[in-house]
Amino acid sequence: MDNKFIPVNTPKIGDLEKKLVMDCLDTGWISSEGAYVKNFEERFAELHNKKFGVAVTNGTAALDITFESLGIKAGDEVIMPTFTIISCMHYVLRIGAIPVFIDCDFYSWNININKIEEKITPKTKAILAVHIYGLAVDLDPLKKICQDNNLFLIEDTAEAIGLNYKDTLCGSHGIASTFSFYPNKHITTGEGGMIITNEPEIYYRLLKLRNLCFDNKKRFLHNEIGWNLRMTNLQAALGIGQLERLNENVKRKRQIGQRYHKNLTDLKNFNLPLKSLSYSENIYWVFGLVMKNNIEKAEVIINNLKKKNIGSRPFFYPLHKQPVLSKFKLNKNNYEKTEFSNANYISEYGFYIPSGLGLLDEEIDYVSEVILEIDNFY
Ligand SMILES: Cc1ncc(COP(=O)(O)O)c(C=O)c1O
Repeated sequence: MDNKFIPVNTPKIGDLEKKLVMDCLDTGWISSEGAYVKNFEERFAELHNKKFGVAVTNGTAALDITFESLGIKAGDEVIMPTFTIISCMHYVLRIGAIPVFIDCDFYSWNININKIEEKITPKTKAILAVHIYGLAVDLDPLKKICQDNNLFLIEDTAEAIGLNYKDTLCGSHGIASTFSFYPNKHITTGEGGMIITNEPEIYYRLLKLRNLCFDNKKRFLHNEIGWNLRMTNLQAALGIGQLERLNENVKRKRQIGQRYHKNLTDLKNFNLPLKSLSYSENIYWVFGLVMKNNIEKAEVIINNLKKKNIGSRPFFYPLHKQPVLSKFKLNKNNYEKTEFSNANYISEYGFYIPSGLGLLDEEIDYVSEVILEIDNFY
């Protein structure tokens, strides 16, 4: 075991995916014009009980055109967690809108719902709920806040495909919800993303934005600038095959999480992921650990794991600390560091260990042994 490197993620791809991708190659339907794209969109939307799906090139693109389709413009404020990936604020910053950050909970790593209302102003237009690392955001109170204040609720469900909030899937609650199908997600298309919605107006707007804003009546006439974010038939074929194994993938991810929990239950110096919240059961997008009491920064542990042939990654670097913010005219008072003590802490002391679908039980046990050795050292 010592000689073989265990990557932080390996996807699982089966025979059905290979057959469907081969069909694209055999028939020559490899571009976005192929029938699998529409089929994948329909199946994915239906799974979430939504009318429309729009497949795109990645989860970042999904967020970008979702914000644009909702008319987010310069000066608008969008509330979002600080503990998340940069993709969440790309479009907001580009358009001159203002990301308003909220700290996370210390244990669930998800946005602290109780801190949201005090940040709402007349300029607030939307709340981006990002389900983090396999646990859901508490959506019911969030929906109420959005209704009371006339705000859009957008769900970023990249890390929570197949996760239930109470008894409905995450991603089925926002006015529009976005997904990523990068290979570390619960299903993959290599690169890829999706937006789902029930609103025809948003759907048609997304279709247009995804495809260079071609005029509906006259080809090659453009009244607006769009994007080229079309998913290929090859990717969609892979996605349809993967969708068939979503339940199996979620089950395996839970087994991985539970095996780590069992092996690591005696750790003294690390917090483990929460197994569940009252409204959702962890699907362990990644299995994260946070060192307690400032004992040792994550980067040291990550280096030690590497020496033992184990891949790991640091937690997200919080958005409020991103150096790129200095390039935008933003009110620095919004980014008082003290306000984000949980995100500041977990981003320095948190990391995740191999958690991909291709991970073997003996690899989980080896990684656990090494973590236990490290724990004993402190
Ligand atoms: C919460 C979240 N949103 C968006 C993205 C971006 O997705 P992509 O890498 O497909 O652009 C990711 C990627 O991991 C993510 O974790």
